[in-house]
Amino acid sequence: MRTWIVTGASRGLGRQLALQLAGRGDRVLAVARDAGGLQALAAHTDGRIVPVPLDLAEARAIRPMLEAAIAAAGGIDGAINNAGIGAYKPFLDHDEDELLRVLQVNLGAVMQVCRVVLPHLVARGGGQIINIGSDLGRRPLANMAPYVATKHGLLGLNHSLLREFRDRNVRVTLVNPGIIDTGFGGGEEGRGDGRGSLRPSELAAQVLAVLDAPPGIVIDEITLHPLGQGDF
Ligand SMILES: NC(=O)c1ccc[n+]([C@@H]2O[C@H](COP(=O)([O-])OP(=O)(O)OC[C@H]3O[C@@H](n4cnc5c(N)ncnc54)[C@H](OP(=O)(O)O)[C@@H]3O)[C@@H](O)[C@H]2O)c1
Repeated sequence: MRTWIVTGASRGLGRQLALQLAGRGDRVLAVARDAGGLQALAAHTDGRIVPVPLDLAEARAIRPMLEAAIAAAGGIDGAINNAGIGAYKPFLDHDEDELLRVLQVNLGAVMQVCRVVLPHLVARGGGQIINIGSDLGRRPLANMAPYVATKHGLLGLNHSLLREFRDRNVRVTLVNPGIIDTGFGGGEEGRGDGRGSLRPSELAAQVLAVLDAPPGIVIDEITLHPLGQGDF
């Protein structure tokens, strides 16, 4: 049984990633704020999904919570940094707290999770990290500047970490989805027709395929769009 941290596992893409990993027989340390949602998810899976209720905006809480969860699980094989937040609104309408929260959840916490997990992976001879970016990590969008900035930041983080840790058999992959049919940004999950937005379950299966690449191959970055997305 392999053990993975999945952040943002209470709903959306992360929930599907957790369910599918558990369905493959792996164990998931499932991170999100919504403890009830995580418990409900765990109830499906015979102990394979372990709730780790944690607010990634609380920087100082991250290391102790994750180290305790990893110790209880007996080790860690990798992490999927999936949690992300963003609002579509004019740059000047964000308040300072909101800006800092986007920076921390989307980028600062990803670095922190990597800093917790990487020593474990190096000590056990390798592992995998997947960072969920966005197609907005490689292009601009007005009225999404803070979010776009964090996803551009993830691009640099991902490829730099890969180059720093590949000699120690750690593979680091950036997954850039286009529009996903989730409640991201205040919408409602499951409203799409499968053409203009990616189905979370289908996208999750593509993400998990990255974990199955032969050991000598690293998929450094993939971008997945729904065929019907107009703006790419
Ligand atoms: N939806 C899209 O169109 C789209 C497109 C491209 C990329 N993406 C990226 O895909 C990833 C998943 O997005 P999604 O669409 O599945 O979003 P979602 O449905 O809004 O789910 C976001 C997840 O992140 C968790 N989260 C948010 N703030 C958190 C915090 N402070 N601490 C811990 N967990 C937190 C949420 O759990 P709690 O609320 O319980 O904490 C939830 O489980 C994100 O990185 C997003 O940027 C999304």
